[in-house]
Amino acid sequence: MKNKVVVITGASKGIGAELARQLAAKGAKLVLAARGSQELEEVAQQCRERGASVIAVKADVAVERDCAAIMSGAALAYGGVDVLVNNAGMTMWARFEEIEDLSILGRIMQVNYMGAVYCTRHALPWLRASGGVLVGISSLAGRTGVPTRTGYSASKHAMAGFFDSLRIELADSGVAVTMIYPGFVSTGIRENAAGPDGKPILVSPVKEGEVMGVEECARLIVDAIGRRRREVVMTARGKIGLWLKLVAPSLIDRIARRAIERGR
Ligand SMILES: NC(=O)c1ccc[n+]([C@@H]2O[C@H](COP(=O)([O-])OP(=O)(O)OC[C@H]3O[C@@H](n4cnc5c(N)ncnc54)[C@H](OP(=O)(O)O)[C@@H]3O)[C@@H](O)[C@H]2O)c1
Repeated sequence: MKNKVVVITGASKGIGAELARQLAAKGAKLVLAARGSQELEEVAQQCRERGASVIAVKADVAVERDCAAIMSGAALAYGGVDVLVNNAGMTMWARFEEIEDLSILGRIMQVNYMGAVYCTRHALPWLRASGGVLVGISSLAGRTGVPTRTGYSASKHAMAGFFDSLRIELADSGVAVTMIYPGFVSTGIRENAAGPDGKPILVSPVKEGEVMGVEECARLIVDAIGRRRREVVMTARGKIGLWLKLVAPSLIDRIARRAIERGR
């Protein structure tokens, strides 16, 4: 990763922030984006302390011109982009029939799916020039249904379909497309998850101490980028579940239901 220009969206917290710190230690040049400028600046500073050159761009990935500005910032500062990590995302925690205002599903789709589409579109000329890596952070909920996550699961399935299709279009371009499917990772994403009233639920229903740590998750992503892997399904349960889905789909439904009920 030394001297590679890596753009990470959603770099102010959680997986994106830890990915930035680990890549900083490996000598990458970083472009970090998120809406919250203070937290983003703190992460940028942690990366500089690890020896990295960093620019922080305040951006809402749901807005196409913000995504264009992230990539022109990268081009201006470093002359191009070698890796784009489409990581910015939000989630929900509510059964479909309990949701009071369905616009939350549109917002989730706009951030998780269209945000990745916009950033990818504006990064692609640079990625083609560098023969770089395009990364999508989806979720196991992007491969199978999960109760309380209808809109989230739909947005992550949309990402999977988009990037799998684009990979075929880019087959002769020199650009690798890497899809990441994490299971539960201990971050603040669930406190901020939209509840039935559209407001953050504030208390995570997941046993955060018993799920994958953010350091391990980021390490697996760094490894996947380095190897230009097609996809990474992160947990043993996820890997077994996807095989089971082929032969006994109702069994994976039961596993997903139990995971939500047990919070891990
Ligand atoms: N944690 C898990 O269990 C898990 C599992 C599977 C997949 N994932 C995926 O991994 C990714 C990162 O999740 P995380 O757990 O690290 O979440 P997190 O801790 O909540 O961090 C989310 C990041 O995305 C940014 N973000 C949110 N909306 C944005 C927007 N409209 N424009 C720009 N940035 C935005 C946030 O910053 P601002 O709020 O400052 O903008 C923050 O930096 C997400 O795509 C998530 O779906 C997470």
